[in-house]
Amino acid sequence: RPALSAHALDGLLMEEVPLARIAREVGTPTWVYSAGTLRRRFRALRAALDGAGLRASIHYAAKANDNQAVLRVLAAEGAGADIVSAGELRATLAAGIPAGATVFSGVGKQPDEIRLALREGIFQINAESAEEIEMLSAIAAGMGLRAPVALRVNPDVDARTHAKITTGKAENKFGIAFGDAHALYAQMAALPGIRPIGIATHIGSQITEGVAAYRAAYARLAEMVRGLRGAGLPVERVDCGGGLGIPYRDEAPPPPEALAGAIKATLGELGLPVMLEPGRWIAGPAGVLLASVVLQKQGHARRFVVADAAMNDLVRPAMYEAWHGILPVSPSALAAPCSPADVVGPVCETGDTFARGRALPALPPGDLIAFLDAGAYGAVMSSTYNARPLAAEVLVDGARFAVVRPRQTPEDLLAHQRLPEWLTPAAG
Ligand code: LLP
Repeated sequence: RPALSAHALDGLLMEEVPLARIAREVGTPTWVYSAGTLRRRFRALRAALDGAGLRASIHYAAKANDNQAVLRVLAAEGAGADIVSAGELRATLAAGIPAGATVFSGVGKQPDEIRLALREGIFQINAESAEEIEMLSAIAAGMGLRAPVALRVNPDVDARTHAKITTGKAENKFGIAFGDAHALYAQMAALPGIRPIGIATHIGSQITEGVAAYRAAYARLAEMVRGLRGAGLPVERVDCGGGLGIPYRDEAPPPPEALAGAIKATLGELGLPVMLEPGRWIAGPAGVLLASVVLQKQGHARRFVVADAAMNDLVRPAMYEAWHGILPVSPSALAAPCSPADVVGPVCETGDTFARGRALPALPPGDLIAFLDAGAYGAVMSSTYNARPLAAEVLVDGARFAVVRPRQTPEDLLAHQRLPEWLTPAAG
């Protein structure tokens, strides 16, 4: 984890900033992102695609982390975006990613969202059903436009990842069944409000067991493109989706060069530009969740470290049994002997458990810990369950850092509620 390092005096650092300093100035729990890591990873992906001789564009999946500062760092690198809602489109536009470099994915795009995307000049809409294509055509034609539509194909391959984040199997809700896709593409070409521009797939997330599933999916896409061309239908590009995994624990995910190689081997000879929609691979390793220890509690059989962060902040362990590395932050704790501990949050659910039997030193109240690889699907998935305000977010860039989203206040939580007048106590 290149952005994190341990220093004998300062403890754990993000780039050049001691995490203890951020905790002192901003409090905890706080998400801390490394601009340097975001840039380095974006460039590494770019280099892998270029190295394979691909004409490729990178559309960062904003759902992984849609913080404005994160988006701006990536916009400055030339990233396009992959969005799934009007909210994400507004966020990416505000951060300077043009709609002309943005893909709109998702099974349930609503008319208002489609209109906004078309009005802004969206690069591509990935359609997922015949019903949606009808709707897209009607809306675009009503605006006097042709919507640039790619068909999202479900290649029925098993990405061998967690069931909740696998998307490319026949039983999943995503995409058009491979066998139906050619006919639907042909129908699309006959609609007044659609300009068919290509095909897309996305087979799942946190893919770590090699690139065989990618290869199988892309081989099917290549077969389909040949068929479409044979039928005289236009195909301008192929969207290869996202999903490249990262090592949270001891996984050995394929490097981006292997993914680029799989794309080259299967789709290369079509000579078309390709697109990638990575989220986690770029943002995951670029963030930590910094928390304080509330107390240590010795149970009958187990030691519990109770943190001030909880499942409402980082839900991945509760939701996917996900494993996140946990490091102490202070120099003394980093050097101290470890014993097993369960790390839990203060929320009233057994599921509010980050880790079980984790090797950690003694952690007195107030000590800091960092949950690693929390830059993707971290803050974006948090809630205010148990009336816990959303945590602050901080961006580190070299020796500088800034709060890029202030911590919610308890007042914020109440500010957006309204009482019906019949529950308001009568005056006097
Ligand atoms: N493109 C599409 C159409 C997607 O549905 C997704 C993710 C991506 C791209 C980006 O995938 P990535 O490169 O980040 O794997 N909350 C879950 C992950 C859900 C992923 C949903 N779709 C988690 O925390 O593991």
